[in-house]
Amino acid sequence: MHPITTRLAAAHDRPAIERLLREAGNFNDEECGVGLEIVDVYFSDGPTGGVNGDYPTVVAERDGVVVGYATFGRTPMTESTWHLYFIAADVRIRRAGIGRALCSAIRDVAMVRGGRRLVLETSGRELYDATRAFYDATGFVEEGRIPDYYSPGDAVVYYVWRW
Ligand SMILES: CC(C)(COP(=O)(O)OP(=O)(O)OC[C@H]1O[C@@H](n2cnc3c(N)ncnc32)[C@H](O)[C@@H]1OP(=O)(O)O)[C@@H](O)C(=O)NCCC(=O)NCCS
Repeated sequence: MHPITTRLAAAHDRPAIERLLREAGNFNDEECGVGLEIVDVYFSDGPTGGVNGDYPTVVAERDGVVVGYATFGRTPMTESTWHLYFIAADVRIRRAGIGRALCSAIRDVAMVRGGRRLVLETSGRELYDATRAFYDATGFVEEGRIPDYYSPGDAVVYYVWRW
């Protein structure tokens, strides 16, 4: 057995997070850059930031190795809505429960702070079929699409997970 555990990310996890983004297979350079930028905001919040900052970040570990990560946060100007900004599981270890473990860690953090739902945006492109299959299978509900949002032919798909 290789149990998956989760914890808040620490600064020394940055190279692993960068690798997860770059190897994910569906993030372009701009997206990897934004992913790292918000992780850096989380790290710059320092030890007092943690879950209370704008971009809490969790990592998943298996056998002591970082195999997934997610950045999320309270959605400003809402009472109880949270946002999932980035999530990635090691491309070599997909379908092993890493994404599921990360989402439950997010829910635990958000619930303690009054969160009632997790919202995310993803792409309607074929490249994201597996990603949407993951959300469809793990309690998220599709709530709408805007055609041509990212680029012509590339819709944004909104998902919500309520608890
Ligand atoms: C989305 C992602 C994080 C899911 O991580 P994961 O660890 O592979 O997912 P899990 O193992 O927790 O999967 C949970 C369930 O989701 C469904 N699922 C996950 N991947 C699937 C796939 N490729 N096809 C069909 N169903 C899938 C399955 O029902 C799975 O349960 P099962 O394996 O017991 O049948 C991962 O695919 C990933 O990193 N993708 C690239 C980055 C990305 O797209 N991020 C999101 C951007 S919006």
